Amino acid sequence: MVGYQDFRMPEAVRFGVGALQTLPEEVKKFGAKKIGLISDKGLEAAGVIQMVAELLQPLSLPIITFTDIQGEPTFSLLEKTIKTIKDEGCDLVVGIGGGSAMDVAKTTAALLNKKDIEDYLSSKKTIEERGVPCILLPTTSGTGAEVTMNAIFGDEVQEVKRGLVSPALLPDLAIVDPALTISCPRRVTAASGVDAFTHAIESYVAVRSTPLTQIYAEKAMKLFPLYISRAVNHGKDLDARIGMSWVSHLAGVSLANAGVGAVHALAYPLGGKYHIEHGIANALLMPFVFEVTGTTCIDQMVDIAAFLRLGDYRQHPNDSLGAVVRYLYSLLSELDLPTSLKELGVEESSLPMLAAQAAKIDRLLSNTPYNLTERKILSIYQKAYNGMIN
Ligand SMILES: NC(=O)c1ccc[n+]([C@@H]2O[C@H](COP(=O)([O-])OP(=O)(O)OC[C@H]3O[C@@H](n4cnc5c(N)ncnc54)[C@H](O)[C@@H]3O)[C@@H](O)[C@H]2O)c1
Repeated sequence: MVGYQDFRMPEAVRFGVGALQTLPEEVKKFGAKKIGLISDKGLEAAGVIQMVAELLQPLSLPIITFTDIQGEPTFSLLEKTIKTIKDEGCDLVVGIGGGSAMDVAKTTAALLNKKDIEDYLSSKKTIEERGVPCILLPTTSGTGAEVTMNAIFGDEVQEVKRGLVSPALLPDLAIVDPALTISCPRRVTAASGVDAFTHAIESYVAVRSTPLTQIYAEKAMKLFPLYISRAVNHGKDLDARIGMSWVSHLAGVSLANAGVGAVHALAYPLGGKYHIEHGIANALLMPFVFEVTGTTCIDQMVDIAAFLRLGDYRQHPNDSLGAVVRYLYSLLSELDLPTSLKELGVEESSLPMLAAQAAKIDRLLSNTPYNLTERKILSIYQKAYNGMIN
């Protein structure tokens, strides 16, 4: 095979319970004069922002706290955040939250000193380097956005979600403190946890996967079944939170370097048109997409069935796909997640339009080991609409 591929991570990753306490010393190292703290109202209500502000108080630095981030952020919210943080003259961005807050924070840090940001937002120009340093702290497990080169925003005009991709979107430092996820609500824990699994399974089978990225995806898939139910049903179980933080983080590294595929391509139009949360959309679509796409990667399905301890299918490889799909589908009811698009308020009449939009997301479809036509995508949406697998 010809060609080469980079493998990227943030410059530094600090993982562990109590890692948050080291934030002040890390801020100091950057020599910042004014901090832009980007988060959301949910974290504010949970007392996390106040805790971080108190932690940073001994530094006697001005802190601009911006918590207007809403779930599934839009480009206009991003522009508003960049303007606020720029007008305030912040020279370090700290993003704390789930994927929504972290995506806004890392893009703000990357674009803070740029003129004509429209060109970057429309992807006419790629972001070559970060404007100011950026530290990210995830509070969900999760998107893995603290280790990815992507940031995803809703385009209100076209009613679609679009991703910006650049190594400049990696933070200078990712601080993963699993204790920060303890207050994460039950439904967000379930949806973001299955989202992390989606990253692992999709990147494991991705066209761009390599033995190096698969190491991360494999470990994430092995840990996931040990911790997901515990984290969802016993939110204060610190071991389960640590386990899920590893799942999210490992899957994020794999996603960042191998990319994801059709599940995400079909989820984006649902986020754009119906504002269905990313994790919920991915969790629901995953069994229906893999039922089709898994047929062309049976060897990997045998691996995945083993990682999930569903059985040894080496003698009957074709049976592995059914076992994996049934597991993915069973997760939905086990974790009280929606089991059909109908249940989420999606109109059946909009499915052809959603299929047409998904069929255009070549970046993700070309990374899927199955040639999905618009017609096939529509048939997947139709099955997901009714919530029935074979
Ligand atoms: N950049 C990437 O690589 C990447 C990957 C996947 C998804 N995403 C994006 O991430 C977003 C979804 O992120 P998410 O699933 O982490 O959810 P989120 O950031 O939208 O958060 C969901 C809700 O949970 C609350 N919350 C989060 N952590 C909490 C905590 N510890 N305590 C109390 N409340 C808490 C938030 O306040 C919010 O109301 C989407 O916009 C998606 O497109 C980005």
